[in-house]
Amino acid sequence: MTSPLAAEAMARCDALAQCSEETGAITRPYASESLRRAQALVADWMRAAGMAVARDNIGNVRGRYEGLVADAPVLLLGSHIDSVRNAGRYDGPLGVVVALAAVQRLRDERRRMPFAIEVIAFADEEGLRFRSTYLGSRALAGALPAAELERADASGMTMAAAISAFGGNPAALADDRWRGPAPLGYVEVHIEQGPVLEARRLPVGVVSAIAGQNRYALNFKGEAGHAGTVPMNGRRDALAAAAEFVLAVEAEGRAVAALVATVGQMDVRPGAANVIPDDVDLSLDVRDPEDGERLQSCGRLLERAEDIGVERNITVTVKPMTEHAAVRCSPRLTEILAAAIGQAGYEVISLTSGAGHDGVVMASLTEIAMLFVRCKGGVSHSPGESVDAEDVDVAIDVLGRFLDLLARG
Ligand code: GLV
Ligand code: MN
Ligand code: MN
Repeated sequence: MTSPLAAEAMARCDALAQCSEETGAITRPYASESLRRAQALVADWMRAAGMAVARDNIGNVRGRYEGLVADAPVLLLGSHIDSVRNAGRYDGPLGVVVALAAVQRLRDERRRMPFAIEVIAFADEEGLRFRSTYLGSRALAGALPAAELERADASGMTMAAAISAFGGNPAALADDRWRGPAPLGYVEVHIEQGPVLEARRLPVGVVSAIAGQNRYALNFKGEAGHAGTVPMNGRRDALAAAAEFVLAVEAEGRAVAALVATVGQMDVRPGAANVIPDDVDLSLDVRDPEDGERLQSCGRLLERAEDIGVERNITVTVKPMTEHAAVRCSPRLTEILAAAIGQAGYEVISLTSGAGHDGVVMASLTEIAMLFVRCKGGVSHSPGESVDAEDVDVAIDVLGRFLDLLARG
């Protein structure tokens, strides 16, 4: 039987799924109208759980549940509420609603901890709109350089303008950087986005580390021409060159043990059936739990892009977009999470995360730990994302036990 708190958490994920830029699909980019609606819901839920709510300039919604004393140290919980295009309903939101449920339980039991709890709904983790990543957590960690505010979205609107239109002040982002005593830690609950927990028949697991990742934007520039009249051997087809690169990326990912490498976006211009393409933009995403492997593969792939350019007389331009080293989770906090899982009656297993999380950035501010929740078929970044209410119940229970164990020191 599912507890009312877990049922409510599931219903809240459903409510957030209604906040979208597209009908019939979940697409909730940074600083969009749909994100504004999602934030309003989260702020209401925070208030209902007895939290004081604030919103910072980048647009993170932050709820604070005071501790036993006014200047108690702070434990941070949270996840993100932006999404990829045509997303599922749990990647991000689940971590926020589970954290809120754990606080709601304290409130219902009229309990306070020897630490304050701040639940953060980060405004941008996926980077869909500005091909950024972790805008919300980077603002909090003071790791968002002013130069990034000039990045433009697909419509040409800069990040600075988007922040203003979203109710923030881009010139005041530095004011929101975490100040004061270091937090006790940052703990994020997230769907696993992989098949391991399901295969092991376990509802939750702890995370040992988050893979490092690089993202690049590449441009292939050739020469347009008539598809019917330019002979095959005289062509400078930018799409054919880009296609060769895509296959090289796949081959690299297959050849290196734990590496994953993906071209997920491609824009082809001019984009007509009877015109040879002369201009292709594509994205490259490379991840590995070992930083050395990742950097070597990035080097090989960028060299391959250059060689393809020379072989095909195509100008290849590479723009590094983001780079994050692999991050280890805190052994101390992870041990407490593991003890909480054990107390709840489950075997503890430890997983690495191939997906990026706000914890990557929060690790520059404090110790981090993550609790993964089983999902169906390992499916994520897709409308097929599915989580069982019973597992969400376990996650709420484990997070509550974690708070108690942490309180006991
Ligand atoms: C975020 O979900 C990422 O890993 O790309
Ligand atoms: Mn995601
Ligand atoms: Mn996520």
